[in-house]
Amino acid sequence: MARIGVIGAGYVGLTTAACFARLGHTVVCADVDEGKVSALSRAEIGAHEPGLAELVAEGLRDRRLRFVLGNAEALSDVDFVFLCVPTPTGEDGAADLSAVHAVLLEARDAVRPGCVLVIKSTVPAGTAELVAQLVGRSDVQVVSNPEFLREGHAVDDFLRPQRVVVGAEAEEAARRVVALYAGTGAPALVTGSASAELVKYASNCFLAMKLSYVNSLAELCERVGADIGDVTEGMRLDDRIGAAFLEPGPGWGGSCFPKDTRALLSTAEDARVDFPLLRATIGTNGHQARRVVGLVRDAVGGRLDGVRLGLLGLTFKAGTDDLRDSPALAVASLLAEEGARLTGYDPCVSADCGPVRVRESAEAVADSADGLVVLTEWPEFAELDWPHLAATMTRPVIVDTRNLLPVEKVTEAGFHLVSLGRPTAAR
Ligand code: UDX
Repeated sequence: MARIGVIGAGYVGLTTAACFARLGHTVVCADVDEGKVSALSRAEIGAHEPGLAELVAEGLRDRRLRFVLGNAEALSDVDFVFLCVPTPTGEDGAADLSAVHAVLLEARDAVRPGCVLVIKSTVPAGTAELVAQLVGRSDVQVVSNPEFLREGHAVDDFLRPQRVVVGAEAEEAARRVVALYAGTGAPALVTGSASAELVKYASNCFLAMKLSYVNSLAELCERVGADIGDVTEGMRLDDRIGAAFLEPGPGWGGSCFPKDTRALLSTAEDARVDFPLLRATIGTNGHQARRVVGLVRDAVGGRLDGVRLGLLGLTFKAGTDDLRDSPALAVASLLAEEGARLTGYDPCVSADCGPVRVRESAEAVADSADGLVVLTEWPEFAELDWPHLAATMTRPVIVDTRNLLPVEKVTEAGFHLVSLGRPTAAR
């Protein structure tokens, strides 16, 4: 078993540290936030990640995992250092690598001979090679090992990954990193570092493109009287298309897709490669938020000024408490710009956000509202007391941007229900 240093205790670093400890390695996880380090040392993780708190507690108890303030202890006396620091979108859309560079300047003088620096943060193709030059030590190898963790599924995605991707010029270093995942039984791809770095962007941007395609298809279904549910069901039967990521929505969001699509487009532009599919994927996502606002405006009579709307769901997807780049908030901002007065309920959000006054329940949000908008696919929204909600609203109007609601029950309760990609009658 190996001694591993993890730099950064965000949801990627924390998941990486706790899961490597579960796999039997000894892990030191470093962060710059003193409050976070002391909370994590008490197994208080804060994030909404099923199973993660238990793994952290187990690692602490078995003394295979500890948290430290500052990077020094996670750099010295370890066999591998995993960089799990943020690479946010810079002004020009490119990934901002300043956090990566800061760690490397510290690491190059601190790590032992034979140590492998592993870049798990999402970085543009070519970064590992640049990092190797920056570190400039022949006894220290730099390897790319991108993460494929979905929020709300991070522990499962780490311990039962569909693939482990490792990129390095030095094959031996790559093999050593692959060996760390031996306990997962996952297929491993060992390739050059640029290819490994690109697999991450290529995968996320393909998924975003698939969603933008479905969202445009839903709009077409509405015009030609087709049903997006039946159309995607037909598509799913073709295993070349795949069954997942075919649900229409208010657009895609989160801490990855918006960042990664912009970063890949920036990489393409720097390489003077025209990538119209990627531009259209991003553009379609912006259009989707505006299209949802149009559906709401039409549903409440053509104007939003002074209209009281209750939003159901604020996070970027169900199963997480993350509001970063949430399509729900993008829609809320556009609604507020047209004068709508917004309240919102989300099982994982308690503080007001942007123009939305957050309430404690769906019932509170529906009370005296002129319309409801479902924006996040929390399962509880499919089980509401529709007759009661209809009775407390000024007008029983609901726009379901996730096609989550039971059409018959909602319409029987008297609602005018608008959903995505369905013939008008079923909408
Ligand atoms: C994503 C990738 O899935 C993961 O592999 C990568 O490591 C990080 O980025 P995540 O950001 O957690 O994970 O979100 P994901 O579950 O992929 O959903 C992204 C967006 O697509 C969400 O806004 C979600 O609501 C939306 N979505 C997803 C749809 O609108 N329809 C779908 O069918 C699936």
